Amino acid sequence: MNFDLEKIGINTEERYECIYTTVDDKGNKNSAAIGLKYFGGDNIGCRIFEGSKTLENIQKTGKYVVNITQDPLVFTKSTISKLPDEYYTNDKDMAILKDAGSYIIVNVVDIQETKPENTPIDNDQSIFLIKGKIEDVIINDDNVKAFNRGLSGLIECLVNFSRYQIVDDDKRAAYMDRVIENERMIGRIGDKQTKDAMQIIKREYEKN
Ligand SMILES: Cc1cc2nc3c(=O)[nH]c(=O)nc-3n(C[C@H](O)[C@H](O)[C@H](O)COP(=O)(O)O)c2cc1C
Repeated sequence: MNFDLEKIGINTEERYECIYTTVDDKGNKNSAAIGLKYFGGDNIGCRIFEGSKTLENIQKTGKYVVNITQDPLVFTKSTISKLPDEYYTNDKDMAILKDAGSYIIVNVVDIQETKPENTPIDNDQSIFLIKGKIEDVIINDDNVKAFNRGLSGLIECLVNFSRYQIVDDDKRAAYMDRVIENERMIGRIGDKQTKDAMQIIKREYEKN
């Protein structure tokens, strides 16, 4: 089946930051910020580290909801804890954010345990690659697009570059570290334009 995810800013090239909502076997709702990769058609995927409540719920129920939002408080509260009940719709068997611009209901088809590669995380934790099939996409507001953090990383490098000549050596080294990390991140999740822009600004840093 085909879904028009372009409408909510999702293509197969990039990776997006979304809020995943799940329920446990007692009906308790949970939320967490997790990345999303779209493979086209009804195929969707994510990678979740061992130990998260989201992973546990997905393993038990085989279902999750991807909420598309750009609300900073929803991202923050979901990351440090979980969202209070008033953020959810009244659905009993599914956790859905009331104010999400849109949401995607996903059924899990495959879960594979692996060890992380190409991430800055330096321990022995497993990561679980979760493949799912989209059951439905509900769009409440197509002005709310899925968030891709490539542009945030690029803008950070541009702002730092505008100060590069007037800061001390320690700060310059810190800015260069941010260039290296943002280049890595954009290489993995950004679109072509952001990747090209990152190469341009990196060359400028190297000249100065
Ligand atoms: C923007 C953002 C994206 C994230 N993406 C992922 C991800 O793709 N996979 C993952 O395992 N953790 C990711 N995290 C970290 C989880 O959100 C975090 O570990 C969270 O505490 C898990 O909550 P849970 O135990 O309720 O599932 C991300 C965090 C943020 C802020």
